[in-house]
Amino acid sequence: MSSQAFQAVTSKLIANSVSQGINAFAYFDWPQTLEEDQYWFSPDALSVAHTDKRDELTEAELIRLAKWECVNSFSLNTLGERELIENMTNVMEQLKLGDAQEYLYHFINEENQHMWYFQKFCRAYAGKIYPSIAIPVEEKTLSKPLHHFLVFARIVLFEEIGHYFNIQNHKDERVHPFVRSINEAHYNDEARHITFGRRVLRELAADALTNDEDVAIATHELSKTLLVNYNALYNPSMYRDAGLESPMKIRSYLIDHPARQSLYKNVILKSANAAFVKIGITLNFPGDEND
Ligand SMILES: [Fe+2]
Ligand SMILES: [Fe+2]
Repeated sequence: MSSQAFQAVTSKLIANSVSQGINAFAYFDWPQTLEEDQYWFSPDALSVAHTDKRDELTEAELIRLAKWECVNSFSLNTLGERELIENMTNVMEQLKLGDAQEYLYHFINEENQHMWYFQKFCRAYAGKIYPSIAIPVEEKTLSKPLHHFLVFARIVLFEEIGHYFNIQNHKDERVHPFVRSINEAHYNDEARHITFGRRVLRELAADALTNDEDVAIATHELSKTLLVNYNALYNPSMYRDAGLESPMKIRSYLIDHPARQSLYKNVILKSANAAFVKIGITLNFPGDEND
């Protein structure tokens, strides 16, 4: 089923993984402690950015919040990647991807390294990992091709969101250099994963989306995934740990904020959304009902 163009793209990605991939276990020089008077997360990428809530906070509060937003982001990465590896491992032998199948081993190898450094960072500098929130359960029995498609579609959405934060945090010179180096290393690997993800979706869509019902199920399931991933960016524990009052109120205010909803749809997931539209899926984003 897989096209020659797809095989060519994955051959290149495999070669790049071999030549550009790092051995993360030996790559980083882990500091004993990280200075807490520096940003660990770009102030422009915080969950309060683009809202009046940001202006209400002092610089000291923003720096404290940045620490815990970094921990939230890295916790989401490590737990999300564990789930991603698990789901991919469960289906990989059933896929008909030809030689491109080999790329999945590189993908898993790299995710394993990411999972390792994200959890190590959280434990070493924050003493904890924020626990995972509930993930959407597929209630219907899905056809195998549709299930395979959803596994990779969820990976694409998850990775595109992470990519936005890696870019913001790597490029911002106000962010602690060690945190920037982690974001940069992750960005480099994820750029290949995202190229693969968007491309493999097109391959899998041919067998998965064969009628209107398949498209409706995929749209429904992925829109739930979008909402879960969106809400996870507003973990009340990070507001609490930053010493801000009424964490739940802050969370709901930001979740419902039009500027935050627009950022998610029109910036963070702009390209991913376009890739889904191309294969016939129009996702429902948080706030779409207000349009
Ligand atoms: Fe990763
Ligand atoms: Fe990845």
